[in-house]
Amino acid sequence: MTAPADQLRYYRAQAGWTEALRAYALGQSQLATCDNALEVGCGGGWLTADLAAKVRGRAVGCDIDEATLALAREAYPTLSFDLSEPARLPYADAAFDFVCCHFTLLWAVDPVALLGEMRRVCAPGGRLAVLAEPDWGGFVEWPDLNLRDLVATALAMRGADPLAGRKLRAHLVAAGWEIEELGLTAGPWSASPAAIDAAWDHHRWTLAGVLDERRLRVIETKARRAWEGGARLVHLPLAWAIARR
Ligand SMILES: C[S@@+](CC[C@H](N)C(=O)[O-])C[C@H]1O[C@@H](n2cnc3c(N)ncnc32)[C@H](O)[C@@H]1O
Repeated sequence: MTAPADQLRYYRAQAGWTEALRAYALGQSQLATCDNALEVGCGGGWLTADLAAKVRGRAVGCDIDEATLALAREAYPTLSFDLSEPARLPYADAAFDFVCCHFTLLWAVDPVALLGEMRRVCAPGGRLAVLAEPDWGGFVEWPDLNLRDLVATALAMRGADPLAGRKLRAHLVAAGWEIEELGLTAGPWSASPAAIDAAWDHHRWTLAGVLDERRLRVIETKARRAWEGGARLVHLPLAWAIARR
């Protein structure tokens, strides 16, 4: 079982892929005019804290996992983090001007129900930003180390949907959101030692269930050599959207 603190490191590695996307989507969402904001699936709370700095009023985060919520409360003691249920958010109807999530829908047991709840707690005319849902079925890499299938299998075994990205539009429409902008993009990749370490930190966490340490090291060594030799190229599509209630 992964310790929550390790999980948070993995979440931060993912956040590195979406910096430009977040800047764009949060900019488009006119946060400065919002009285309050909610992040659903807040994990360690770093994005909730970022929202708190951008909205006029307050930002709160919620999650179904008590252990990561405890870390969020410890890291950001002045913010509110609430325990949520998988298909029920602990807030009144129309309670927020802005609702968002980041790498959350792929983990939701019923993403349409969760998006429906996010719509219920969003005020009429309020906005939703789905900041990044990956699509491992569209992962491109060279040289081919079969990471696409390995990660997709590992995520599915953990209960996540590795193809969440391509389903985003269908899920938003089914939940009743009016889509303003939607895209499939990829985070910028970098061959810097820090970026490669962060990527492997992420892969180790994800692949722990499908590869033993020896096989993992074989793949990691091949990938690192290809990075160093100048041949490695990777592309993970990330779906995102801005929608209106
Ligand atoms: C990959 S983590 C992302 C955490 C954070 N948004 C970030 O980017 O660092 C996904 C989070 O969604 C939470 N989650 C999954 N299903 C949820 C649901 N139905 N309602 C609220 N949170 C949920 C998980 O417990 C987990 O903390």
